[in-house]
Amino acid sequence: MGQVRCDEAAQAEPLDEEETPMLGPVLRAGDIALFPTDVGDLPLFRAWHADLDVVRYLPNRFAPSSEQEEDWYRRVAASEREVLWSVRLGEQTIGYADMGIYWTSRTATTGTLLGDRSAWGKGYGSEVVRLRAAYAFGWLGLNRLEADSLAGNVAMHRALEKAGYARIGTRHEYVYGDGKWHDSYLFELLRRDWESKQSAKSPGPGGPPCGEETGYSARY
Ligand SMILES: CC(C)(COP(=O)(O)OP(=O)(O)OC[C@H]1O[C@@H](n2cnc3c(N)ncnc32)[C@H](O)[C@@H]1OP(=O)(O)O)[C@@H](O)C(=O)NCCC(=O)NCCS
Repeated sequence: MGQVRCDEAAQAEPLDEEETPMLGPVLRAGDIALFPTDVGDLPLFRAWHADLDVVRYLPNRFAPSSEQEEDWYRRVAASEREVLWSVRLGEQTIGYADMGIYWTSRTATTGTLLGDRSAWGKGYGSEVVRLRAAYAFGWLGLNRLEADSLAGNVAMHRALEKAGYARIGTRHEYVYGDGKWHDSYLFELLRRDWESKQSAKSPGPGGPPCGEETGYSARY
């Protein structure tokens, strides 16, 4: 992907003063940006969850009501362990990404969904996985990321592996869909492995400007 640049923080939807916002900060790489999700994106999310082609590789194939979607959004935005971004290509929201953090073990589960089918297969999912890992390790000090992916979801497996995730196990016959049972693979990325991957790529002293070395830029 193209040149990474530092950027202005985006405005999240205002929340009650007592709530602690945990929407993710702006992260950019090339054409892709992760933005704190705005309520205006929720109808898109609902439509994606009602599209069987999009949720084919998700364990949950039920579309939420608008009330459920808004409740979910407010709960996530106020949570101190869940982080949510919308994935944008230019001005267009094409998907979302999230993390569920377990602070005591400094581990997070990660999820990625590009709902806009025209955006598939263009490297955007890989960029999202890479950006989120860089934020998790570089800004939150996490030690381990974990992801589940159904066995047939080759694009997801490849995107995870390119970011450094390793496949560590299988849940057999985990979910039923499209007339058969599907296994689910468990992937993990340890901080030390992510760091080794970064130093292998690093150009050394006098290297690139802000954000480029780790492939992301972030400002609150
Ligand atoms: C899974 C998903 C995130 C992948 O993102 P993407 O942008 O489509 O994937 P990328 O273009 O980054 O491709 C990643 C890798 O998979 C390969 N790939 C892409 N589509 C593929 C396909 N249909 N079959 C096989 N390989 C594929 C790419 O070539 C690339 O590998 P490479 O870099 O070695 O060439 C996205 O397609 C998506 O959100 N799908 C619907 C929801 C979903 O399944 N989410 C994941 C739930 S666990």
